[in-house]
Amino acid sequence: MVIVAPSILSADFTKLHDEIRAVTDAGAEWLHIDVMDGHFVPNITVGPIVVENIRKKTSLFLDCHLMIEHPEKYVDAFIKAGADLITIHWETVSDPLVVIKHIKESGCKAGISINPETSFESIQDIIPEVDLVLIMSVHPGFSGQRFIPDVIPKLKQVSEIIKKTKKQIFLQVDGGINNQNAGLVKKNGADVLVAASYIFKSKDYHSAIKQLKEA
Ligand code: DX5
Ligand code: ZN
Repeated sequence: MVIVAPSILSADFTKLHDEIRAVTDAGAEWLHIDVMDGHFVPNITVGPIVVENIRKKTSLFLDCHLMIEHPEKYVDAFIKAGADLITIHWETVSDPLVVIKHIKESGCKAGISINPETSFESIQDIIPEVDLVLIMSVHPGFSGQRFIPDVIPKLKQVSEIIKKTKKQIFLQVDGGINNQNAGLVKKNGADVLVAASYIFKSKDYHSAIKQLKEA
């Protein structure tokens, strides 16, 4: 069974607690929090203060996706805020392993993400050291974009490397996920599906999450 991680990016921020409760009741296990800085991506979202407030209201696994430059400056603040997992982008750091190790030594899970145009070879050597690999299936920055099918071969390659490690490493896909492509990404190894618009723009969160799980 895959894990579904609703991304709050498409939630109604004026009633965030209700939205979190609704996806929890609808069967979500994780909550995906998209952190954007207006530099690495052309959009700005939320920071550690919002994570800290969410932490007080939910026991969902808080999956923080940092789409920011210099993530090493901010990881401690997200850990202190109560993140369960912090994913940084390979494109934003010269030595991802240093940041990954620091996150893990602080008692938090650590993930590495790559943009659609970044090859799997770039992260090949660090995969055994992470708890999660995130394959972006849109150009990061906004919810509601179309899934880029070209990332499928890369997903499969990463899935094969993960299998060889014999470690429990999650393989997450993020961007444009819906009931039409969820089956395809799962078939190619994904076990954590992020979805913002497909869930939060639907009338029935329970049915949307169920469709992703059963696709
Ligand atoms: C995009 C974010 C995604 C986004 C997904 O930069 O990382 O998590 O919220 O949105 P949808 O599911 O609508 O493509
Ligand atoms: Zn994300």
